[in-house]
Amino acid sequence: MPKILTIFGTRPEAIKMAPLVTALKRQPEYETVVAVSAQHREMLDQVLGLFHISPDYDLDIMRHGQSLTQVTSRVLNGLEEVIVKEQPDMILVHGDTTTTFVAALAGYYQQTAVGHVEAGLRTGNKYSPYPEEMNRRLAGALTDLHFAPTDEARDNLLAEGTAPDKIFVTGNTVIDALLTTVDKRFQFADPVLEELTASGKKFLLLTAHRRENWGKPMARIFRAVKRLADNHPEMAVVFPVHKNPRVRQLAHEILGGHAGVVLIEPLDYQPFANLMDRSQLVLTDSGGMQEEAPSLGKPVLVLRDTTERPEAVVAGTVRLVGTDEEKIFRQAEKVLTDPDEYAQMAQATNPYGDGQACKRIIQCLDYYFGLRSEQPMEFNYSGEIGKY
Ligand code: UD1
Ligand code: UDP
Repeated sequence: MPKILTIFGTRPEAIKMAPLVTALKRQPEYETVVAVSAQHREMLDQVLGLFHISPDYDLDIMRHGQSLTQVTSRVLNGLEEVIVKEQPDMILVHGDTTTTFVAALAGYYQQTAVGHVEAGLRTGNKYSPYPEEMNRRLAGALTDLHFAPTDEARDNLLAEGTAPDKIFVTGNTVIDALLTTVDKRFQFADPVLEELTASGKKFLLLTAHRRENWGKPMARIFRAVKRLADNHPEMAVVFPVHKNPRVRQLAHEILGGHAGVVLIEPLDYQPFANLMDRSQLVLTDSGGMQEEAPSLGKPVLVLRDTTERPEAVVAGTVRLVGTDEEKIFRQAEKVLTDPDEYAQMAQATNPYGDGQACKRIIQCLDYYFGLRSEQPMEFNYSGEIGKY
């Protein structure tokens, strides 16, 4: 029976791996073991609780204000023992965090096969997103099976010389997670959010956390949002503030105390996804939200200069606005005040997946381990809104 060791450590990896872990655990053909680095602590535990996942190993490595080097060395040290003890037939990693790259490296050191979920996304700029672009490339170099979410991601891998028979286009598991979480009847436990969403008042949803935005770029983002809040008393701004102290300090300095801005703790995935579904506009530097919001038909202004997720930009739902205060302010004003502009961006589009990514990944594993003879089915986005 093939033994699969799934390793993740941060909130977004957990959200995107949870449906796969759940699906794998239902397969009697596999033994499934889960190890978390806990590069994030509270924000990881929120997701584990929601999806009822109890890890077999928890390295508990998070320290406040941790450096990249500290995360790298602590995860690498911690994983050696787990892999030596479990002797898995494959390690599954996800995406582009430091846990991702280091888990792939730890697997390689033990000569264990690596499967990379959400493989092949690229900006081509090694410092943007930093360090995620290199984390993803380095993990890719150590990977035996690449689960590319889209055709573009597969093309990036092919252009780097990856063998075509090692790449499978599966769709993104984030859409699997989203489709089982968003519910029009969802009620918020937080009375402020329940009142806001029940009142029908428009609100803008903001998140920001990227390393390359720390300091001045993030201050410019928050100042632009403050001007939007000043200009639109009829609209609220909701900002669940990432746990990172670099983000929290600046957020409270610039936006704290503003009557139109609701600063709250990071939300559990269920209320967060449902909040996004009720929002008017999303401003974010998040990777995952660039995939989720388009499939909910929410216009997104991306607070970054590059994106490794060009599909929704092409589809028109996402626009890259960078971190210039004036540009963010003007672009958001345009979307908020011009109904044609809004309608053009607010068309639901699903270039990232159809909710079947986990099923396809398991078919690929079956094929790899000789449990199935037919080629796995691949995700095929036709480019037409709402069609696959
Ligand atoms: C990490 C990932 C980034 C991903 C992001 C998702 C790396 C280098 N960065 O960035 O790719 O987009 O997660 O959110 O892998 N903290 C807490 N509690 C938590 C989580 C974080 O207190 O539950 C604080 C700690 O002080 C911690 C700091 O945030 O030291 C930074 O966490 P870290 O994982 O190093 O980086 P992120 O900015 O969260
Ligand atoms: N998210 C959440 N609660 C929040 C903010 C975000 O559950 O308060 C979810 C969001 O829906 C997405 C993921 O967290 O699935 C994105 O995480 P983040 O922006 O931290 O990381 P990235 O995607 O940029 O790596």
